[in-house]
Amino acid sequence: MASNKAVVIGVGPERGLGGALCKQFAAEGLHVFVAGRTAESLELLAAAIRELGGEATAVVADTTDEAAVVALFDQVVEAPGEIALAVYNAGNNTPGRIVDMDTEYFERAWRVGCFGGFLFGREAVKRMLPRGGTLIFTGASASLRGRAGFGAFSAAKGALRNLAQAMAKEYGEEGLHVAHVVIDGGIAGDKIINRFPDMVKARGEGGLINLEGLAAAYWFLHQQPRDGWSFEVDLRTSKENW
Ligand SMILES: NC(=O)c1ccc[n+]([C@@H]2O[C@H](COP(=O)([O-])OP(=O)(O)OC[C@H]3O[C@@H](n4cnc5c(N)ncnc54)[C@H](OP(=O)(O)O)[C@@H]3O)[C@@H](O)[C@H]2O)c1
Repeated sequence: MASNKAVVIGVGPERGLGGALCKQFAAEGLHVFVAGRTAESLELLAAAIRELGGEATAVVADTTDEAAVVALFDQVVEAPGEIALAVYNAGNNTPGRIVDMDTEYFERAWRVGCFGGFLFGREAVKRMLPRGGTLIFTGASASLRGRAGFGAFSAAKGALRNLAQAMAKEYGEEGLHVAHVVIDGGIAGDKIINRFPDMVKARGEGGLINLEGLAAAYWFLHQQPRDGWSFEVDLRTSKENW
């Protein structure tokens, strides 16, 4: 059966990373399962993809809910074909100083940033092996370093990266290409543009990471031959001070 399906969890507006990934994969001919918590935005995106001639199905699923993640994959598997590509994209930033942080806040950050990645990754492995395919996790600057004011986010993203690396080594030989993408800076999507106009202004032209460039990098990872896999790709703007 053809490897013709992609599943992306952590999808918000069309002009967001999840949205850009879904559009890219659909344009490449995959039936995309667009998963997230908000039916309205998922349906809007799926409709936009179908209008462009692609195939998309919206699925409401909270990635921290085990039953929801299992049900998502059950639904994906029922559709014709095989899963070629799965992306774990959920992970909201959770700023705050450690001393001011209550337990629930820290744990919630970990549930979305890391635990959900475990649930999604585990279910993807069960459905994608022994055939193989690509499983990609979305990271951030915080995946590689802690920063004052971002302890919860750094803890979750760092753990997600280690989980991805362990999975890459555990399942690589069986044909599952597990990769991690470090997004080093703000993305030029609705989230930053609408919520942080001052930051957008301060960064100026070309100061945010291009959505289509990001989607192309994920597709590049998926296209790599089995004897030439990257575990990690990092992306930033030419203006980034790193
Ligand atoms: N935006 C940036 O500047 C930036 C920078 C570096 C890294 N990143 C990483 O990029 C990824 C997101 O990209 P984005 O910011 O452009 O956002 P996006 O892909 O447009 O949207 C991500 C969506 O994930 C959904 N989500 C959150 N928690 C979820 C959960 N528990 N289960 C299912 N879905 C959930 C949210 O939608 P609902 O609330 O509707 O569910 C959210 O809108 C994250 O991993 C983030 O850490 C972002």
